Amino acid sequence: MMVEQKIRILIADDIKDTRQLIRRLLEMDEQFEVVGEAENGLEVLQFVKQNEVDIVLMDINMPELNGLEATGQLTINHPDIIVVIMSVQSESEYLKKAMLYGAKEFIIKPLNFELVAQTLTETYSRHKKIKQVSAVSHKVFDTKIISYFGTKGGTGKTFLAMNTAIFLSKEQKKKVLLIDTDLQFGDLGLSMGLKQDRTITDIVEEGAEHSYEALIPYLLHYSENLDVIISPHKAEHAEYISKKAIDDLLKTVNGYYDIIICDLGVNYSDVTLAIMDASTQIHFVTSMELAAVQNAIQGIEVMKSLNYTSDKVKVIVNKSYRGSGMTVKDIEKAIKMKVHAEVEEQPKIVRHVMNIGDPGSLYTRHRHTKIVKQLNMVANLIDS
Ligand SMILES: Nc1ncnc2c1ncn2[C@@H]1O[C@H](COP(=O)(O)OP(=O)(O)OP(=O)(O)O)[C@@H](O)[C@H]1O
Ligand SMILES: [Mg+2]
Repeated sequence: MMVEQKIRILIADDIKDTRQLIRRLLEMDEQFEVVGEAENGLEVLQFVKQNEVDIVLMDINMPELNGLEATGQLTINHPDIIVVIMSVQSESEYLKKAMLYGAKEFIIKPLNFELVAQTLTETYSRHKKIKQVSAVSHKVFDTKIISYFGTKGGTGKTFLAMNTAIFLSKEQKKKVLLIDTDLQFGDLGLSMGLKQDRTITDIVEEGAEHSYEALIPYLLHYSENLDVIISPHKAEHAEYISKKAIDDLLKTVNGYYDIIICDLGVNYSDVTLAIMDASTQIHFVTSMELAAVQNAIQGIEVMKSLNYTSDKVKVIVNKSYRGSGMTVKDIEKAIKMKVHAEVEEQPKIVRHVMNIGDPGSLYTRHRHTKIVKQLNMVANLIDS
């Protein structure tokens, strides 16, 4: 990979041999510059006060101040510094915690150098991009609104919404706005590794939903072509967001994007209904479980009673697997509607991508897998 400037790395580990090993490995690759070493969290915090650092490669168990606490403080006081956690498999319960404290990635020990280098460069370029301001600024698009909905929790709505957004923005160079409209329980920000504070609550509190200019500071720029609005941090804030606010927001952003994608919650609130009404297409997600299909039967009935035709509602079976005791044909028969796309259950890849909050890695690390091909077909439904 070509980089104009080396990626400046601080190695934090209490074991000297480990630090030296990592230093030697990183110094073999000219993209990296090891700018320092720290034995504990306190030394990390001291170091970054006086030196420019792009990435801290952080061990978890360290004396004085451990890696988790140091990560938390860096996130608050030095949000531009990227933390990549190093941990042994047995500490896996700490990993999720580390991500919550603001770490952007993790690497499992014993270290595989190729993976370390790849992880560092990918994480660096991804987060550098997030900081760049999106080029979206003109009202020129004939915007389509796609919403992801389903009547059963956990079928993969968020996962599919996120992927469609990434595929269309990254692979098809469309301007995309992804909105977490699961106002009560939305977890899109977490799944995408977006830890910023600006949520839809701030937008509505400031009345920024009325003009695109006012909205710009609240948009999170995931990548060059993808902006994101995340849901309230607290479930109880959902009630402050009215149907009118959502209607106004959708009207305001209309024309500034090719595609707006809404990740809906499992409910028929007036907000949900307003978004479904405004949608060009509803991607109705079910999984291959009896309970999910039973819910889908009712959900599809509701779609029909709202006069949504099969042009508007596209059914997607996610987490499909052989041996589930049912086939796509069975589901079609039960819901009396065509299934437009199928995505296989692939826990290893999906869980990794969701846990590290880096859906973009589907198009790098996992690009040629069957599930990614199926996800692309889901995204392409917007042209059907
Ligand atoms: N194709 C898949 N294969 C394996 N795991 C999957 C797949 N799709 C989603 N998952 C996993 O299923 C879980 C639920 O996914 P997700 O959060 O996207 O569902 P959801 O429908 O948005 O849930 P909720 O109703 O809570 O909003 C996640 O842990 C996700 O990683
Ligand atoms: Mg969800």
